[in-house]
Amino acid sequence: MEDRILTSEKLAEDKLETNIRPEELEEYIGQKEVKENLEIFIKAAKMREEPLDHVLLYGPPGLGKTTLAYIIAHELGSNIKTTSGPSIEKSGDLAAVLSSLEPGDVLFIDEIHRIPRFIEEILYSAMEDFTLDIIVGSDSSSRNIRIDLPPFTLVGATTRAGDLTGPLRDRFGIINKLNYYSVDELKQIAKRTGHVLGVEIEEDAALELARRSRGTPRIVNRLFKRVRDYALVMGNGTMDLEITKLALDKLKVDGLGLDETDYHLLKSIIEKFNGGPVGIEAIASSIGEEQTTIEDVYEPYLLQTGLLKRTARGRMVTKKAYEHLGLPYLEKETK
Ligand SMILES: Nc1ncnc2c1ncn2[C@@H]1O[C@H](COP(=O)(O)OP(=O)(O)O)[C@@H](O)[C@H]1O
Ligand SMILES: [Mg+2]
Repeated sequence: MEDRILTSEKLAEDKLETNIRPEELEEYIGQKEVKENLEIFIKAAKMREEPLDHVLLYGPPGLGKTTLAYIIAHELGSNIKTTSGPSIEKSGDLAAVLSSLEPGDVLFIDEIHRIPRFIEEILYSAMEDFTLDIIVGSDSSSRNIRIDLPPFTLVGATTRAGDLTGPLRDRFGIINKLNYYSVDELKQIAKRTGHVLGVEIEEDAALELARRSRGTPRIVNRLFKRVRDYALVMGNGTMDLEITKLALDKLKVDGLGLDETDYHLLKSIIEKFNGGPVGIEAIASSIGEEQTTIEDVYEPYLLQTGLLKRTARGRMVTKKAYEHLGLPYLEKETK
């Protein structure tokens, strides 16, 4: 019973997610350069009646990589098939996905950096020559066979471009980095979400939400839904500034969009490591988070907002962070 409830709730969230996800390039807010480039390349590919070159999208989670992959397929008028690095465990898994492709399809591989290295090679010839080289049979009677694949476009997404091997990276003709969004862009996203969900959000409330969403559309939308709940229960359903502030404070999201984990991280560096420099492994174990989560999710935003900096000897908390946390800052030289 409980399972069923969980499942249907999850489905409802998923549905909401699909509704607010932009489908066309025109609706995709921000990332101006990426959008302009893709628009040209997609048009050109269509004019030549050739598949679009393979596209690599990278950047922190929640910035719109998956959304963009779907938009690319939509704009090409193609079908999209999706898989992810972690779900490809054997070479046969990848071969099965590749051999299911039809001409012009978009193949979206999320978290592409997590494809095991020994399998990755299969992608090289698939991407370059649209062929699939596989070994059939076992040991003594094994032989190579080559299968022709239809022309397709691979869209790969990753939070860690640095983890891709050179040969894989080189096979993407179009490489785009997604950056954190400006407050103004996030405000537009909040307003768009309000529009799609049929909820009224006032200008200053949208701005507040944007300021506190750490540059990330997924967070704007997540906080939007929670503030909407407060507005419904405690107000008249309209999302105004007062309700928005109240809800965000209750959710422990501060004025810079920092959450409890960010605080925990900064405070541990200050309290346990005297502000740094300290290695990422030590930070990870001191706050009980995965190193990769810190590197992919928390650190990029803290670096971007200037609360943390990277030095040759490790991470250091900046003066700005001490000030933000309301802690006294002592110049390092004096110690
Ligand atoms: N440029 C954008 N404009 C409007 N909404 C966006 C944009 N980028 C992302 N979103 C919203 O944020 C959510 C998270 O984006 P997603 O593509 O899943 O991020 P990623 O794959 O990079 O982790 C999407 O469901 C979508 O609603
Ligand atoms: Mg994604």
